[in-house]
Amino acid sequence: MKIIMLGAPGAGKGTQAKMISEKYGLPHVSTGDIFRANIKNGTELGKEAKKYMDAGQLVPDELTVKILLDRVAQDDCKNGYVLDGFPRTIPQAEVLDKALTELGDKVDYAINVDVPDENIINRMSGRRACVTCGATYHVVYAPTKVEGICDKCGSELILRDDDKPETVKNRLEVYHKQTQPLIEYYDKKGVLKEVDGTVDMNEVFNSIVSILA
Ligand code: AP5
Ligand code: MG
Repeated sequence: MKIIMLGAPGAGKGTQAKMISEKYGLPHVSTGDIFRANIKNGTELGKEAKKYMDAGQLVPDELTVKILLDRVAQDDCKNGYVLDGFPRTIPQAEVLDKALTELGDKVDYAINVDVPDENIINRMSGRRACVTCGATYHVVYAPTKVEGICDKCGSELILRDDDKPETVKNRLEVYHKQTQPLIEYYDKKGVLKEVDGTVDMNEVFNSIVSILA
């Protein structure tokens, strides 16, 4: 099963992708997480990506596409995956489609987690992220057992550099301009599913499970 998570920054793509990954045994592939791991490790890719991420802009397609195609070509992705944060532009979606078509394959579901802009800024300021395992928490809506420490792997949590309110505003603008058109793109392909992302995260997950069942 090949699933794409669509939605604005902070809609809960990562939160839901992680839950899907655990329930269905599919790898959770997040381009944002891959970039953050590279930044943490000080790689050339990380240095390049950070310039764009800190400004709330998209990393250029040439860089992003290669990383994603390499990742999904790995053995653990043979039976499917959950893509979180990719594709984010029409050209990225076209490259993915082409690569899948060459393998006689296709995207099964594009799930749009719908959350209006008003709710987003509030969510971002309380978010805490684990760069080691990709888990996401919120100080109010999804707190950890021990403050600042990941429940799943015990690593220290970070506040993302791009979660400052001004940067979040840029990210939302970029989302509306460059990423939102993907909703129509996948609707035309007949694989789009919409869920209300404003309700409790377990309720959001229940809606997704009923789609995938
Ligand atoms: P990325 O890491 O993908 O960030 P994003 O799309 O901006 O999305 P977020 O991770 O901020 O939000 P999310 O939807 O995953 O929400 P979450 O589950 O954390 O990308 C970062 C940057 O990398 C981009 O800006 C770009 O520069 C670059 N990049 C990445 N991919 C790229 C690509 N393909 N092309 C080009 N550039 C790329 O939830 C948010 C918070 O809300 C959390 O605290 C969570 O606990 C809480 N929450 C979740 N659900 C609920 C709920 N139902 N109720 C209450 N709180 C909730
Ligand atoms: Mg995320």
